[in-house]
Amino acid sequence: AQAVFKQADLANKHIVITAGPTQEAIDPVRYLSNHSSGKMGFSLAAAAAERGAQVTLIAGPVNLPTPAGVQRLDIRSAEQLLKTSLDCISSCDIFIATAAVADYRPAEAAEQKIKKDGSGSELSLTLIENPDILATVAKHSDRPKTVIGFAAETQQAEQYAQQKLKRKNLDAVVANDVSRQDIGFGADNNEIIWVTQSGSEPFGPATKHDVSHFILDHINTLIH
Ligand code: CTP
Ligand code: CA
Repeated sequence: AQAVFKQADLANKHIVITAGPTQEAIDPVRYLSNHSSGKMGFSLAAAAAERGAQVTLIAGPVNLPTPAGVQRLDIRSAEQLLKTSLDCISSCDIFIATAAVADYRPAEAAEQKIKKDGSGSELSLTLIENPDILATVAKHSDRPKTVIGFAAETQQAEQYAQQKLKRKNLDAVVANDVSRQDIGFGADNNEIIWVTQSGSEPFGPATKHDVSHFILDHINTLIH
C-alpha cells in the first residue's frame, strides 16, 4: 500500500529532528554508543518534508540516505548534538527528539590509543552524565512552541513516558518498547503510544512511515 496524499499542512513550519545514536570517544579509535539505527527520525523527517515543512535533521552516525528536501547536519557526540540543536533553536517551531543519546560519556577521552598491559588486570572507565538535549531545549528561554520527546522503555512504557513528559517540560512523548525485536531498534515497523498531559493513544504496529504521519497528525492538532 502506498501513502495517502497529505496536504502541505506543515508549510511555514520549521521542524528540527534529532536522530540516530551518539558516539562518545574513549580514545582516538574507540567509542561508547548504542544500537539506534536512526530509522524513526529519518522517517519523521521525510514525512514532515512531504507535508511541506522546512526540516532540519540533526543526525548521529547512521547508514541512511538523507530524505528529499531535508537539511541534514551530522554530529557525533552528545555535546555536539546539544550545540547544533541550540544553534537551530531560534528559528524552530517544532523540536522532535528521536536521538538515542548516550546517557554517559568517558570523563576524558584519551589523546592516544589506550594500550593493554597484557597482565589480565581490569581496566576501569569513569563515565560522567551527558547533557540532556531535549530537556535543555524544552526549558530554554527561546523554547520552540512545540517540543516532543521519545521514550525508549523495556517495561511500563506509558508510566515512564508520563514521568518524562513532566520532568522535561514536553508537549508530548512518543513511548515505545525497545525490548521487542519486531518493533525496536533497527526494525522497519513500530508500535507506539502517544502520551500527553490529557491522555494517551496507542498506534500500530505499523510501518515507521505510517507512525510518522500519525505523530505529525497529532502534532498538527496540538498546534492548532
Ligand atoms: N534525550 C536527550 N538527551 C539525552 C538523553 C535523552 O535529548 N542526554 C532525549 C531522547 O532523544 C528522547 C528522550 O530524551 O527523546 C528520552 O530519552 P530516554 O533515553 O528514553 O530517557 P532518559 O531521560 O535518558 O532516561 P532513561 O534513559 O534513564 O530512561
Ligand atoms: Ca537515556
